[in-house]
Amino acid sequence: MKKILVIGSTGQIGSELTLALRKEFGGENVIAGIRKTAPSKQILETGPCEVVDATIREQMERAVEKHDIDTIVHMAAILSAVGEQNPMMAWNVNMNGLINVLECARDRKMDRVLVPSSIAVFGPGTPLDNTPQETILRPTTMYGITKVAGELLGDYYVLKYGLDVRGLRYPGIISHETLPGGGTTDYAVAIYYEAVKNKKYTCFVREDTRLPMMYMPDCLKATISLLKADFNKLRHHCDFNVSAMSFSVKELADSIKKYIPEFEVSYEPDFRQKIADSWPNSIDDSYAREEWGWKPDYDLDAMTRDMLSALQRKHQQGFI
Ligand code: SER
Repeated sequence: MKKILVIGSTGQIGSELTLALRKEFGGENVIAGIRKTAPSKQILETGPCEVVDATIREQMERAVEKHDIDTIVHMAAILSAVGEQNPMMAWNVNMNGLINVLECARDRKMDRVLVPSSIAVFGPGTPLDNTPQETILRPTTMYGITKVAGELLGDYYVLKYGLDVRGLRYPGIISHETLPGGGTTDYAVAIYYEAVKNKKYTCFVREDTRLPMMYMPDCLKATISLLKADFNKLRHHCDFNVSAMSFSVKELADSIKKYIPEFEVSYEPDFRQKIADSWPNSIDDSYAREEWGWKPDYDLDAMTRDMLSALQRKHQQGFI
């Protein structure tokens, strides 16, 4: 891992992961792959940037060649809610983007590829509580279908070509730097912004909806730990369950009310309720713990304290 290309460097996770990787591996060694969205000043100032649309293989090859890339972290994807509005776009970006990454890495005998998966791989028939890693995977969203196929493809490249591909199933990720783009778990981010800005929030899933979630510092820790893990110690590759916390919207709202007592939440469930209902309540991540030492740091209240103080600061400064 000498030169890392992060594809999707302006997304919710990619924007923070790129900076975290630059801290760890040196700014000049982590190339931010951007597409249409303008990168933050910090991304522009701390290392190289290249335009890389994952669906355009030649563009990817050019960036890889130019910077002598030996590791790709592929963060670009269309998430569940947007994917249901435009299933063909989700298929194209998620599948063609991934196969381009894998083929480019195979051709060039790269050192490593990291491709995240998601709790969206689960669906009806999957046990809802403490969901095992190896279980029924019959998702009902296009996003979930592409993530199951992506895990299988990644494992296939490990088996067939000996390419080192790794991946972890992110739960809903909560953060305060870059907004998430079109997922079902976005309510768990929006609720904090609205609590700080307007003291009220209308949620698009019911209050008893319970999903696995993770705070961004844990997401970065999980991603970087898996990226650095010793390949010889991995018995699994592209399908690691990772868990941090799990709560209903009511529990989330109650946690916020401890700090903003006047906060009010109302509920107007839409098409995303069905997606949320098809996903687990909580996740068993024993393999990640055993094989690469995964352990989260944040629970719901610790995350709430941190989110609210970061967003209150931004609000006072007029950024949100
Ligand atoms: N956050 C994603 C979504 O809601 C799940 O991986 O689509």
